[in-house]
Amino acid sequence: MMLTQSGRKKAVITGATSGIGAAYAHGLAERGYDLIITGRRRDIIASVAREIEEKFGIRVDVSITELSDESKVDLLVEQVKEVCPIDILVNNAGFTTKGLFHQEDISTQEKMVLVHVVAMMKLTHAVLPAMIERRSGTIINVASLHAVAPMSLSATYSSAKAFMKNFSMCLHGEAKAHGVKVQCVLPGFTRTDLGRGIDVDMHAIEDKNIRKWMRPEQVVKVSLNELNRRNCVICVPGAGNKLAYLVARLLPERLWYMIEPAIVRNMP
Ligand SMILES: NC(=O)c1ccc[n+]([C@@H]2O[C@H](COP(=O)([O-])OP(=O)(O)OC[C@H]3O[C@@H](n4cnc5c(N)ncnc54)[C@H](OP(=O)(O)O)[C@@H]3O)[C@@H](O)[C@H]2O)c1
Repeated sequence: MMLTQSGRKKAVITGATSGIGAAYAHGLAERGYDLIITGRRRDIIASVAREIEEKFGIRVDVSITELSDESKVDLLVEQVKEVCPIDILVNNAGFTTKGLFHQEDISTQEKMVLVHVVAMMKLTHAVLPAMIERRSGTIINVASLHAVAPMSLSATYSSAKAFMKNFSMCLHGEAKAHGVKVQCVLPGFTRTDLGRGIDVDMHAIEDKNIRKWMRPEQVVKVSLNELNRRNCVICVPGAGNKLAYLVARLLPERLWYMIEPAIVRNMP
């Protein structure tokens, strides 16, 4: 990976091959940031990088990094540290599985924690000191509504996302006095490639009246617009998702267990 030295502001985005990460790459490039983006589908991420460079005239460096491999994450951390200070870090990479926990492959569940939790912590730990020193910087963690609405068949995913949410809230408490912004985004259904892991084509699912699927660009627009809201860490894009978030937070636990099976039946 060749790292950026242009003097422009810099953003690191994990999982920018497609979906929400690719939309952050476009959104931040449009705002004039040079980018370091990570992914694994080499050809696709290379063409994402080319397209963005040509369209916005900024520089995009690509790191092919398997984030469930701690030695690869450590390498990425060293490369990111070399170009600190970073202005924005977006911990976005993620995948999902669907199934009863005791029947799932345990190594895949372990990878879920490594990607969503461990890689996120290590990258955050790498960029935060320079941000604090400069009293400037933003960390965006892309979690999920599952963080507040934990579901059967997604035990590890829901728990990893809850970690991301709580971690972000705690970090905000520590970093706000030092001028560093932390945001945790809780998207609902969004049309991306996330369904690949569970054999679902999310691009082809029809909208229902009560649950409309968002486009990744809409999610990112809300996230970037909300960065200016003071003391506001949790970002829930979309009116329907905001309602779901409120209900999940206010519903008594016993009622939650009564309605949760019906919600799970309607999940993709
Ligand atoms: N789509 C939704 O409905 C939804 C809802 C709530 C939250 N989210 C969250 O949004 C984030 C982005 O997902 P998306 O929906 O945009 O899906 P996506 O289009 O599949 O993008 C996921 C990205 O994460 C990368 N990634 C996945 N596993 C990885 C691994 N082990 N190592 C390195 N990179 C890995 C992928 O890289 P490669 O493809 O190159 O392997 C890809 O760039 C995820 O954290 C997801 O949990 C999505």
